[in-house]
Amino acid sequence: MHPCSANFFLINLLLIGGAATLSMATDALVPWEPTTGSGAAAAASCLPWEREALLAFKRGITGDPVGRLASWKKEDHDCCRWRGVRCSNLTGHVLGLHLQNDKVAVWDMYIEFYSDFDATALAGQITTPLLALEHLEHLDLSNNNLTGPTGRLPEFVGSLKNLRYLNLSGMPFMGMVPRQLGNLSKLQCLDLSNGKGMHSTDISWLPHLLWLRYLDLSRVNLTTIYDWPHVINMNRNLRALHLSDCSLSSASQSLSQLNLKRLEKLDLSENNFNHSLESCWFWNLTSLKYLDLSDNMLYGEVPIALGDMTSLQVFELLNYEGAPCTMEPNLLRNLCNLEILDIRQSLSYGNVTEMLDNLMYCSNNKLREVILGQNNLTGTLPTGLGKFTSLHTLLLYDNQLTGSVPYDIGLMISLTDLDLSSNNLTGEITEKHFAGLKSLKNIDLSYNQDLKIVLGPEWLPPFRLDVANFALCQIGPAFPSWLQRLDEVGWLDVSHTGITGQFPHWFSTVLSKLIILRMSNNQISGCLPANMEIMSVRLLDLSSNQITGDIPTLPPNLSSLDISNNMLSGRLASKNFGAPQLNNLRLSSNNIKGPIPGFVCELRYLEDLDLSNNLLEGEFPQCSGRKLKYIDLSSNSLSGRFLPSLRGNKQIQFLDLSSNKFNGTLPSWIGDLQELQFLALSNNTFSGHIPTSIGNLGNLYQLKLSKNMFSGHIPTSIGNLRNLYQLKLESNNISGVLP
Ligand SMILES: *[C@@H]1O[C@H](CO)[C@@H](O)[C@H](O)[C@H]1NC(C)=O
Ligand SMILES: *[C@@H]1O[C@H](CO)[C@@H](O)[C@H](O)[C@H]1NC(C)=O
Ligand SMILES: *[C@@H]1O[C@H](CO)[C@@H](O)[C@H](O)[C@H]1NC(C)=O
Ligand SMILES: *[C@@H]1O[C@H](CO)[C@@H](O)[C@H](O)[C@H]1NC(C)=O
Ligand SMILES: *[C@@H]1O[C@H](CO)[C@@H](O)[C@H](O)[C@H]1NC(C)=O
Ligand SMILES: *[C@@H]1O[C@H](CO)[C@@H](O)[C@H](O)[C@H]1NC(C)=O
Ligand SMILES: *[C@@H]1O[C@H](CO)[C@@H](O)[C@H](O)[C@H]1NC(C)=O
Ligand SMILES: *[C@@H]1O[C@H](CO)[C@@H](O)[C@H](O)[C@H]1NC(C)=O
Ligand SMILES: *[C@@H]1O[C@H](CO)[C@@H](O)[C@H](O)[C@H]1NC(C)=O
Ligand SMILES: *[C@@H]1O[C@H](CO)[C@@H](O)[C@H](O)[C@H]1NC(C)=O
Ligand SMILES: *[C@@H]1O[C@H](CO)[C@@H](O)[C@H](O)[C@H]1NC(C)=O
Ligand SMILES: *[C@@H]1O[C@H](CO)[C@@H](O)[C@H](O)[C@H]1NC(C)=O
Repeated sequence: MHPCSANFFLINLLLIGGAATLSMATDALVPWEPTTGSGAAAAASCLPWEREALLAFKRGITGDPVGRLASWKKEDHDCCRWRGVRCSNLTGHVLGLHLQNDKVAVWDMYIEFYSDFDATALAGQITTPLLALEHLEHLDLSNNNLTGPTGRLPEFVGSLKNLRYLNLSGMPFMGMVPRQLGNLSKLQCLDLSNGKGMHSTDISWLPHLLWLRYLDLSRVNLTTIYDWPHVINMNRNLRALHLSDCSLSSASQSLSQLNLKRLEKLDLSENNFNHSLESCWFWNLTSLKYLDLSDNMLYGEVPIALGDMTSLQVFELLNYEGAPCTMEPNLLRNLCNLEILDIRQSLSYGNVTEMLDNLMYCSNNKLREVILGQNNLTGTLPTGLGKFTSLHTLLLYDNQLTGSVPYDIGLMISLTDLDLSSNNLTGEITEKHFAGLKSLKNIDLSYNQDLKIVLGPEWLPPFRLDVANFALCQIGPAFPSWLQRLDEVGWLDVSHTGITGQFPHWFSTVLSKLIILRMSNNQISGCLPANMEIMSVRLLDLSSNQITGDIPTLPPNLSSLDISNNMLSGRLASKNFGAPQLNNLRLSSNNIKGPIPGFVCELRYLEDLDLSNNLLEGEFPQCSGRKLKYIDLSSNSLSGRFLPSLRGNKQIQFLDLSSNKFNGTLPSWIGDLQELQFLALSNNTFSGHIPTSIGNLGNLYQLKLSKNMFSGHIPTSIGNLRNLYQLKLESNNISGVLP
């Protein structure tokens, strides 16, 4: 049960005993009916001064984009019926304000804030009329923007002395957490997480909150508070403690007595712990069900005490690289309640046989996720995996597992995600391995160079896959006809798997739902598949094969196409490829003839264009290729002047025109291509002076102008190119010295 749920309070308040709690206990008998009893069936209706207070509070709210306070109207006298307001059904006092903004959930890692925050958040400020709600027990304003002009959490919130639940999570407060919160002596749940840079240098008020069960200060900066375990240890009623991303520097502390006998949830992820695991203060907390230590730099041996934490359901340890841990696999043996074990990128060695054998030890296995990737594990996969009847995720990628994959893998009936990639597994994967995997969605066996996938043409997979990655396994030489059975798959990688032969006739039809398809580095010959225009594929990588013929009409949603390093011949059609969204087009190292067609200019999203090492001739089409970032036309027979299409381009970073027949002088606007990092024009017949403006290309690190007919002096402005590390000017008629 969640320590903040209403039932939890009622049950636990009644269970509280002992002299010290007597006053609280009588208090607690005053019925507290938070979430359930709304005003709907209320006997008593709201009190006039509390209604006025609510209306005054509403005036502080200047933005309500989805009308969550629309029912708060002066003319509607029973404020207990207003949305989000909960009253006592006996006294009519307002007991709860449930004004959380439920619609936001997406943490946007790019802008580091909730992406659609504004769309549904209340905006404005929390104002003092709230204090008139003297009986208020439950205040939830989470994910709203009521930070007001100061951006700070107002101190007067500490005067709402009947509060038991205060949730200001996801409100973009800055500044100090007010110590007045220590006056909320009845508080049981306090959630100040996910602000926007709140900090605290003093949490000595926390122990005043005698009844605190749930505390979440995640993302509040507590960097200067060294004795936090000591302070927290005084809150003996705590059930859940979340201090994720609090810039805490150490959890190394020994407490003479541990009071947190009821703590079930401890989240210390994303802090700066850089000390041994053993010295952490919490290992004796056998009541813990959830322990998250990930994203720290804890090192050394996982203490034996872990083996006594038999209530553990979730254990997560994910270290920054370079903080190696070790773990005695026996510790896992008695953790029979474990559901999630996520220890990735943490161990410096281990034996996978022993790890999994110990995890299988409990007869009633509850494990749902086992993640042991990047742990340098050796050994073979054990038999008996069928005991993992609840396991849906098994990730063992990037270890050194050897030997064959036991058939038992197919007995894990709940498995949805299996990742054995980047190991040294050998032997064959056959139908029998997949026999019982009815739920499988994602499988990654890639980078096991000696693992052979042997599936017959009549194979009937028991699953419908979303993702299948077999790159660098052995599949060929015959084109795998079993791919026909994966007609639901959206993401398929069979690169470097020894496939030979031609695309089969069913290819486009059967694999029409694919979104990402990688088949590079095989020996596929013959023409590209027929009917590709019916495919949904967006990324298609067929590079490094032996494909011949023309480029047919392409799938309409294609965004990235790589057919480089093949034997395509013929001309590029003068019409559009039928793929207007192309963003990345790579056709280098083929035998493509003729001119570059004008439709290249119509590809509005095109950023990367690589046509190098073909037999192309004529001029680059005239267009405003303003989005182009990467152009490689080297080693063709293209002619004409320095691409006029690039004028005004503010994106281009890479331009290689070398080994062609371009001529004429370089325009002075070349200095406007400010993002250029790589410019190669060697082995053409460019002439005239090198423009002084070239010194404006401050990002340039390679400039290759050799084998042309440039004349005049080396412009001194080249000395401004601070990032330049390669400059080639030989075989021209240039004089002067390098600045
Ligand atoms: C009103 O409160 C009483 C006493 O706590 C409770 O038994 C009853 O279910 C409540 N009625 C409603 C409609 O919430
Ligand atoms: C919150 O509101 C303030 C104005 O009160 C505004 O400056 C700020 O950008 C808003 N923050 C978010 C995350 O919407
Ligand atoms: C506080 O609100 C957030 C967002 O509404 C929610 O995810 C979180 O569980 C709440 N905290 C508590 C202690 O109920
Ligand atoms: C509230 O807390 C402050 C600072 O901790 C304290 O000075 C003040 O006396 C407290 N007020 C009440 C009403 O308890
Ligand atoms: C936390 O605060 C300290 C100064 O008090 C500051 O140096 C540090 O950068 C802050 N941490 C984060 C993650 O903002
Ligand atoms: C933790 O447990 C160990 C062994 O059971 C014991 O020696 C130690 O005193 C305990 N520490 C605390 C703080 O309870
Ligand atoms: C961790 O601590 C060690 C010394 O104890 C230090 O050398 C190392 O730089 C620290 N790592 C980080 C990332 O702070
Ligand atoms: C991986 O384990 C081997 C021994 O099993 C050890 O020699 C090697 O240093 C370990 N590598 C890392 C990165 O810890
Ligand atoms: C792993 O453990 C098993 C069982 O204890 C043992 O037979 C095997 O030799 C070990 N493998 C390695 C590579 O240490
Ligand atoms: C696994 O394969 C890699 C690359 O082939 C090799 O370097 C490594 O030594 C192999 N490890 C084992 C345990 O065989
Ligand atoms: C120069 O370009 C021509 C084709 O234009 C090519 O045949 C020759 O190999 C290139 N020379 C060098 C040194 O790259
Ligand atoms: C550039 O080459 C073209 C033929 O490809 C020629 O017509 C033109 O005169 C040349 N221009 C210069 C300045 O050499």
